[in-house]
Amino acid sequence: MNTPQKRYTITAALPYTNGPIHIGHLAGVYVPADIYARFMRMQGHDVAFVCGSDEHGVPITIKAKKEGVSPQDIVDKYNGVIKKSFKEFGVSFDNYSRTSAPVHHKTASAFFKKMYDKGKFIEETTKQLFDAEAKQFLADRFVTGTCPKCGNEEAYGDQCESCGSSLNATDLINPKSTFTGATPTLKETRHWFLPLDQYEDWLKKWILEGHKHDWKSNVYGQVKSWIDDGLRARAVTRDLDWGIPVPVEGGEGKVLYVWFDAPIGYISSTKEWAEKEGKDWEPYWKDEDTKLVHFIGKDNIVFHCVIFPVMLKAHGDFILPENVPANEFLNLEGKKLSTSKNWAVWLHEYLEEFPNQQDVLRYVLTANAPEAKDNDFTWKDFQARNNNELVAIFGNFINRVVVLTNKYYGGSVPEPGDYSDIDKKTIAELKAYPAVIASSIEKYRFREAQGELMNLARLGNKYLADEEPWKLIKTDEDRIKTIMYIALQIASALATLSEPFLPFSSARLKKMLNFSDAENNLNKDEYSQWDKIATRNSLLPAEHQIGKAELLFTKIEDKQIEQQLEKLEATKTANAAENQKIEPQKDTASFEDFTKMDLRVGTILEAHKMPKTKKLMVIKVDTGLDKRTVVSGIAEHYKAEEIIGKKVTVLANLAPRKLRGIESEGMILMTENSAGKLVFVNPDEEGVEPGTTIN
Ligand code: MF3
Ligand code: ZN
Repeated sequence: MNTPQKRYTITAALPYTNGPIHIGHLAGVYVPADIYARFMRMQGHDVAFVCGSDEHGVPITIKAKKEGVSPQDIVDKYNGVIKKSFKEFGVSFDNYSRTSAPVHHKTASAFFKKMYDKGKFIEETTKQLFDAEAKQFLADRFVTGTCPKCGNEEAYGDQCESCGSSLNATDLINPKSTFTGATPTLKETRHWFLPLDQYEDWLKKWILEGHKHDWKSNVYGQVKSWIDDGLRARAVTRDLDWGIPVPVEGGEGKVLYVWFDAPIGYISSTKEWAEKEGKDWEPYWKDEDTKLVHFIGKDNIVFHCVIFPVMLKAHGDFILPENVPANEFLNLEGKKLSTSKNWAVWLHEYLEEFPNQQDVLRYVLTANAPEAKDNDFTWKDFQARNNNELVAIFGNFINRVVVLTNKYYGGSVPEPGDYSDIDKKTIAELKAYPAVIASSIEKYRFREAQGELMNLARLGNKYLADEEPWKLIKTDEDRIKTIMYIALQIASALATLSEPFLPFSSARLKKMLNFSDAENNLNKDEYSQWDKIATRNSLLPAEHQIGKAELLFTKIEDKQIEQQLEKLEATKTANAAENQKIEPQKDTASFEDFTKMDLRVGTILEAHKMPKTKKLMVIKVDTGLDKRTVVSGIAEHYKAEEIIGKKVTVLANLAPRKLRGIESEGMILMTENSAGKLVFVNPDEEGVEPGTTIN
């Protein structure tokens, strides 16, 4: 089973350099990417695993403003923090670059220039959102508003994180500047647009026909719905001063859109690496035989499956991704991870509280990987998986094997005798594992792959438990030699097969088994490490000397878990206090202003949740004047059947607006109680505090 060498360019999303990274990043992108890269290297493939800091873009400018420092200060600080976390968790990038690096500025600039020269952009003066007070055009995260697709009220100017739609800032309903809170005006400005609509047929052929069966269904489904909705031209330049200058005439004072420059960072990072290694970078991006794989989270799908491929295609020199195995999101204790609400487990803090336990976190995050749907991380599950799986199964097996080998044979691998039927069956099962695990990894099913790794440890445990060498040692010494020999082969296979998942424990186990000696005795280049398990008769030959037992995993106590839960409780309390802050009074409203509002009592006649949305409820209300439809964002707070028959306050003359294709004719007034639940306006209701706004 000697697979021919292939070239792999493996990328992991460049993290925004505006904060440290947390378990959501690790679970969704970096651990799966690392498992894949490590595995491919172990197969003897030629791998470039690249990443780097995404240092442009609005989130960084916003963070800098908040802290009163320059964007450069922010990226310098977090580039260091993030890079360190990756290293500490064993994410084995071949290169970690930065989009502020000169090689990247040059590469991204040249990329744009070439597309420009080939006439791939549309140049157009359009009206864009402008904050007159801040004297600033509002794009991307400088503006928030209601998503026209799903009604999420906190959608950004380029994207709605709730439904994943990619947006133009002018699509937002009720846009608001994040600088001043002001409602923006429109102002003319000139930009370069990528006419995505012209690539629709090509995308249909390439993805919808070409990757129907090999791309993950969550990825394929999202891409299909965008293409089916129809693609529109998107501006790839911005009126900002933080970013890569637009390198063509008329581009003064403008920069490349961050999502134009960042993915080119994969190419720059590869160049930087090749330069250091004395290699040629071009085959990694231009050779049709290279397998390009992008690891990302689901909020990045449109950029990696539509926009960047269109850029690569339009540019003309580059290969396209073979796969984009995006993951869904990880929640923490049932709630969405959030940097701004500090609802997260930060990697640097984790290591302070669980020193040297990187593999435990990697293991739990893979076991719960949000591969097909959003998934939940809980501290109780973390403890259970460590104690009941890593300690009780994997660690226990290894410990028994190493302790007994030392006790019976002074650490020297015994010579086996004849194999019993059970021995033969066990060896046959052992030899099947490398291919089983490999096949899951190749299909990007990392949790399944890791599950099989644990099954191998279970096989070892069961073998020892059934054969009970400790009972036979007095009566049948030869039989014990065979049992221990086989158990040692399983331990050795575990040391190799665990490397992509548990790199630190794998290294410790190899050291314990004295692998480097064993490796020297084997004919090295003949097989890949992985395949040797199936093909060799002996992984650790008789008379090979192993080292002393050392615990691979340790039990996590209830107290440690309680501390983590208390920490999260404290965050909840702090956030609740923050939410209780009274909003300042708005500008004075004249009596005329007030009389403009037509407020009426209405009765809810019918209600149903709008399909494919989380928040929206479609409500039929009797206003006394008529029976009309109102779309309201309360579906997370009420069930449809609970509200039928309720009397509510309706703002009847609010200008109608369309939400997900349904016209909403008015608004039902709501307020929020102290538990954060939206409730119909009734100031007497429990938990509604003075000062809470009605809207
Ligand atoms: N910075 C982006 C994020 O964190 C990811 C950028 S990926 C790249 O969502 F392709 F642009 F590099
Ligand atoms: Zn949306």
